Amino acid sequence: MNATTKTCCLLGNPVGHSKSPFIHNTLAKMMGINMVYTAYKVEDGRLGDAIKGADALDFIGLNITVPYKCDVMEYLAEIDTLAEKIGAVNTLVRTDKGYKGYNTDIIGLGRQLEEENIIIKNKEVILIGAGGAAKAIAYLCGDMGAKGVYILNRNREKAEALAAEINSYFGKIAVPLGLEDYRNIPEGKYPVIQTTSVGLYPDIEKAAIMEDDFYKYVESGVDIIFNPEETLFMRKCAQAGARAFNGLKMLLYQGIAGFELWNNVKVPEDMVREVYELLQKEMKA
Ligand code: ATR
Repeated sequence: MNATTKTCCLLGNPVGHSKSPFIHNTLAKMMGINMVYTAYKVEDGRLGDAIKGADALDFIGLNITVPYKCDVMEYLAEIDTLAEKIGAVNTLVRTDKGYKGYNTDIIGLGRQLEEENIIIKNKEVILIGAGGAAKAIAYLCGDMGAKGVYILNRNREKAEALAAEINSYFGKIAVPLGLEDYRNIPEGKYPVIQTTSVGLYPDIEKAAIMEDDFYKYVESGVDIIFNPEETLFMRKCAQAGARAFNGLKMLLYQGIAGFELWNNVKVPEDMVREVYELLQKEMKA
């Protein structure tokens, strides 16, 4: 670091376990960019102050995590259209007017789905969950041209509210269901995206849907959780003969999308693979 080092950071609460500093500082070193990335815990009510401070200090980019992905929107000069629809921003990019907000979580998942050859266009997809992450992913599925989105949630009313929102934007593609109503889905194999926090460390023996019977519907299963490396949802997918993926690539790709926006660069594929391998090791450290 020297007097011309550019600064980026993560704001959230808590931030202590974040892998974003590892991702961005590794990328900066590999790409030979004089940038440093740090993480700050922001107390309740101080988000506006934190963003004004970052602006005054000429931070070129910020990431925003739980619990501020919605609150941050009121402090931005501009918001990307899809991020605005989703109602959540995780990446701020400096512009002349102030910060512009993006949702690179969704860019990250889109890239992961493409890379794993999980086709969404003209297909029906199953989403487990109807919270903030599910909402973003439902918009992504609509944006990628899904023909149908079955939204399965423990609280059926929340699934109904999300389906209504998606249908008012994309036309009638979303179908709300309770978790146990998967039996009403026409027989077939579907891409399934697990968006709930069920199965997250240390509750690793849990899955939102425990019945093995459900997993016969899975063509490819993506869990947005990456700790543990293999969730019970993924194990059940694999036992049913389906491909199963965790959320680590989504995490890396959301970071890469932010890094590229901040520095106006393209990270080469071989470097992406190298950082992914390092990140896998870092997760086990
Ligand atoms: P996020 O922003 O991470 O999506 P959220 O908005 O709080 O977090 O949503 C959490 C999701 O996980 C919801 O779909 C929630 O289901 P409910 O709407 O029924 O609460 C789901 N979830 C959390 N704990 C669950 C559990 N034990 N079993 C099933 N679903 C669960």
